[in-house]
Amino acid sequence: MTEINTLAQSVPDIASVTASQLLAYISVALLLQAFACVVFAMWRRTVPACAPQSAAYEDVVPAVNGAWSDWRDFRVVRREFEDAAQTQCSFHLQAVDGVPLTPFQPGQYLTFSLKLPGGVAGTPSGVRTITRCYSLSDRPAAAGYRITIKRALAPADRPELPSGQSSSFFHDHVHEGDVLQVKAPSGHFFIDPDATVPAVFIAGGIGITPMMSMLRWCTEEQPGRLVHLYYGVRSSNVHAFKLVLEELAAAHAAFKLNAVYSSPTAADVLGHDYQHSGHIDLALLRRTLPHGRHQFYVCGTPPMMRSLIPALREWGVQPDDIHFEAFGPASVRPTGLVSNEPALVTSASVAVRFSRSGRTLAWDAQDDNLLDFAERHGLPVESGCRSGRCGACQTRLLSGIVTYADKPDLDIPKGHCLLCVGKPQSALVLDA
Ligand SMILES: Cc1cc2nc3c(=O)[nH]c(=O)nc-3n(C[C@H](O)[C@H](O)[C@H](O)COP(=O)(O)OP(=O)(O)OC[C@H]3O[C@@H](n4cnc5c(N)ncnc54)[C@H](O)[C@@H]3O)c2cc1C
Ligand code: FES
Repeated sequence: MTEINTLAQSVPDIASVTASQLLAYISVALLLQAFACVVFAMWRRTVPACAPQSAAYEDVVPAVNGAWSDWRDFRVVRREFEDAAQTQCSFHLQAVDGVPLTPFQPGQYLTFSLKLPGGVAGTPSGVRTITRCYSLSDRPAAAGYRITIKRALAPADRPELPSGQSSSFFHDHVHEGDVLQVKAPSGHFFIDPDATVPAVFIAGGIGITPMMSMLRWCTEEQPGRLVHLYYGVRSSNVHAFKLVLEELAAAHAAFKLNAVYSSPTAADVLGHDYQHSGHIDLALLRRTLPHGRHQFYVCGTPPMMRSLIPALREWGVQPDDIHFEAFGPASVRPTGLVSNEPALVTSASVAVRFSRSGRTLAWDAQDDNLLDFAERHGLPVESGCRSGRCGACQTRLLSGIVTYADKPDLDIPKGHCLLCVGKPQSALVLDA
């Protein structure tokens, strides 16, 4: 009781407060509020914003799409060819640790780290690690993944060149029971789940793989969604998933199959083996697609992409409704001369220092990206996809700013950059 009385006596009686005392209380309160605002503003200035502030994407934290963030062991449990000519082979993978897989977005890809034994595709003796991406070619399932790989042969006009390193390795050396190192599914090329908009899948050759994943997901999860597949190949010899596609078309009225053969064999029957002759072009799409909005997904050869994407835009398809992915050759180097001479840094150029190699070179905007630039000057740098997806060229950025014309698929850890799609915005020091 005594304590309560003492406390009550220490609080001023509001009725006994004079006007000048009240003014003093209000002034103190306002001063405290102003002080709190200043402290908050200073704190905001020292903490970086979550969104990237420049095209350098330096503040982006690596996103883990799935249950793991680095390499994980997967066992090949089955392999099977998908075409009559046996140029495209599927590999079924299961996680060695047995932990169920988190779902991926239909259309995404996996990244592989491969240890090539000496002698494969002309490599010298010893083991060499290369990195490559392969699209998931089936719908998401907890049990495992499937990828499908086409053997990349030497270009027809350069038969003396070695055939593709990774695809030859898969076809010739990867067998059931083998264990591979795999990164979690990633990529921004995947199906929009809005079932009210019909989807048009346009695939050229091995570009069928992400379409198989999206198609299998649609027929399973959205059986009423209208889906058109235009699949361009030479003939039935290299028509991958032929039987599966025909069975899907027979079972699902909403799935419209359009196999387009450019060079059918004498045994190929129009209307049975394939639906159209020639190549996939805008005229074919205009002739065969119903009116109305569609979402287009395109993955094919460089000539197909170069002609179809602008044609779709000219046709009036909204940019948001055109999705595309280019696989691109991975180890094809620029044809320019490689120079070991130090280039002089002039006032018009930007100095790029490769700290490990101890060389400073002048970026003179001749190259599309830092990877081409480094290779042109004979610097030893890692590469894989050459399109900002696999992370093989990821390099520590010791100082300076690297810019990207488009946001790379890969989330770049703070203090790093991707050489294959980056250009210097200022003088750079790279840990390479
Ligand atoms: C997101 C993504 C998804 C992909 N999905 C798939 C998929 O589902 N299935 C698939 O099969 N591929 C896919 N790819 C392509 C794949 O990653 C590889 O690029 C492809 O397998 C070729 O790699 P490689 O190592 O076999 O060939 P590389 O060794 O990289 O060679 C590529 C080509 O260049 C030729 N070549 C070799 N040396 C030279 C030279 N000096 N000059 C000119 N040419 C030369 C080779 O003969 C070969 O034809 C994908 C790529 C990306 C980026
Ligand atoms: S080479 Fe694949 S991200 Fe650069």
